[in-house]
Amino acid sequence: MAIVIIRQDGKSEEWKSAIQELAPDTNVYVHGDDFPKEEVSMALVWKHPENSLNQYPELKLVSSMGAGVDFILEDPGLPEQVAISRVVDPLLAEDMSEFVLALVLGHIKNLNTYHGDHRRRWWQPIAYTRIKDTSVGIMGLGQLGAKVALDLKGAGFQVSGWSRSSKDIPGITTYAGQEGLSDFLNDTNVLVCLLPLTPETEGMLDEKFFEKVEEGTYLINVARGGHLVENDLLMAIENGKISGASLDVFQQEPLGVNHPFWEHDNILITPHVASVSDMDSVASLLLENYRRLTDGDALRFEVSRSRGY
Ligand code: NAP
Ligand code: GLV
Repeated sequence: MAIVIIRQDGKSEEWKSAIQELAPDTNVYVHGDDFPKEEVSMALVWKHPENSLNQYPELKLVSSMGAGVDFILEDPGLPEQVAISRVVDPLLAEDMSEFVLALVLGHIKNLNTYHGDHRRRWWQPIAYTRIKDTSVGIMGLGQLGAKVALDLKGAGFQVSGWSRSSKDIPGITTYAGQEGLSDFLNDTNVLVCLLPLTPETEGMLDEKFFEKVEEGTYLINVARGGHLVENDLLMAIENGKISGASLDVFQQEPLGVNHPFWEHDNILITPHVASVSDMDSVASLLLENYRRLTDGDALRFEVSRSRGY
């Protein structure tokens, strides 16, 4: 039994050291090195190359090294019989919550506009909005969305949330399913996308969707670039349905140098950094599932292939 790490961002060796420090007796390999492939039972992956997984004939479990699993389920070479799991880490949720709080505050206090004005040496006061007058709607009330919703509520915002199944979260107005979507959007000045990317949610932030939002809604997408139809956002900002956006994720990452978002005054771009798996915290979670796999115990944070998350 062994673990293989498959990622293309040059961080595999660092992850290998973090895992081996916690479990010196565990065989941990880096994809691309020379080692016996049939030893591997668990693959730890982050944006792995397509068709890398089918090189491991004894593979039983593929774990995302982050929260999302879209890139695993999209791999045509994903072996049919393997289980899939992901990272559920309180620190990841805390980081996401802090990031969204920063973006919402930046928006209501006009910081992105002032940043542009500063560069042009313009002294131009703009009316601000108060926390208590701001309704934030969170799309996705899972591990990250629920934490963000509760923390924003605690900070004094009015908060609502939307998910696939109905939820009961103290202090949060919740809506569920397609039938709850319009009411949810009517309740929202600032919309935060924290959905998983699945066939159902792909491209859902499109022209039709923007027609349903309240005039001047501000969009924060910290989920996946695939949720947003990028040209439709530009049109929705043009026609005033959307007042602006903070985008952390994009259809293509890194965002192409000629992309129109870069030059847009009402769009704030961050390079997919809202919450990043913390090596020290996540290595032990990944090892716990490896131990369970080895001992034949029930896995934690398993993903449903049919739901797509
Ligand atoms: P999660 O725990 O699986 O929660 C997903 C939530 O979305 C659930 O509430 C689920 O509803 C809801 N949902 C799924 N499909 C839906 C649909 N068709 N309609 C309405 N609601 C739907 O996921 P998570 O751990 O919170 O993570 C969410 C996503 O954040 C990840 O998939 C990843 O893409 C993204 N992410 C981004 C960053 C970043 O740095 N930008 C970092 C980490 C994660 P139910 O509760 O009813 O199932
Ligand atoms: C980051 O995007 C993650 O899915 O953890």
